[in-house]
Amino acid sequence: MNLTDLARSLRNCQRCQLAHGRTQVVFGTGNPQARIMFVGEAPGFYEDKQGEPFVGAAGKLLTDLLHSVGLSRSEIYIANVIKCRPPNNRDPLPEEIDTCKPFLLQQIELINPKLVCTLGNFATQTLLGKKVGITKVRGRAIRMPNFVVFPLLHPAAALHQGSLRKPLEEDFQKLKAVLDDMQAGHFDDPPTAPVTPQKAPQTESAPQPLQMELF
Ligand code: URA
Repeated sequence: MNLTDLARSLRNCQRCQLAHGRTQVVFGTGNPQARIMFVGEAPGFYEDKQGEPFVGAAGKLLTDLLHSVGLSRSEIYIANVIKCRPPNNRDPLPEEIDTCKPFLLQQIELINPKLVCTLGNFATQTLLGKKVGITKVRGRAIRMPNFVVFPLLHPAAALHQGSLRKPLEEDFQKLKAVLDDMQAGHFDDPPTAPVTPQKAPQTESAPQPLQMELF
């Protein structure tokens, strides 16, 4: 099965109640061989209409933030945890996440990225498999068996709460350091021994070495 086959197999998905209210399944978009993948929460109004993730206001902000670290949307792959729009953009329900998660994992397996940037709580918790708050783990590189997870604040959160805009921009600057590290080949050989988790940087100004953690 390739990515196109997987997308096709989900086109008429009826596995959960979200099938009734959606316009279409929003599978994902971008480079199917991307080394970097971004995962959001669920399609909103515009995504549901256009069939692509992050095409509304949060998407525009995401595109600007990507450009700020030298990334274009065409070189990455973007998907969501939930592939169908929840009514009135409510939070995804646990059973909806459980139903859709295997397809996200399959999507990641087929793309095989080195780095998966999770946007917000739902994507972060889904991929880490733990109920951990985004404010605790944002801006930290966490090594999972097959890829590194890098949690960031969700762009929509910064649109709703202006005070989160600067922290979101800071997350992307930390992402830039991870990208540089990746470019230098530091992601190519996973460590065989566990890396001791370290505390997140305490100050904003002090330059910090990249901290790779095991979860
Ligand atoms: N928010 C998300 O999490 N995903 C989208 O596709 C759009 C907004």
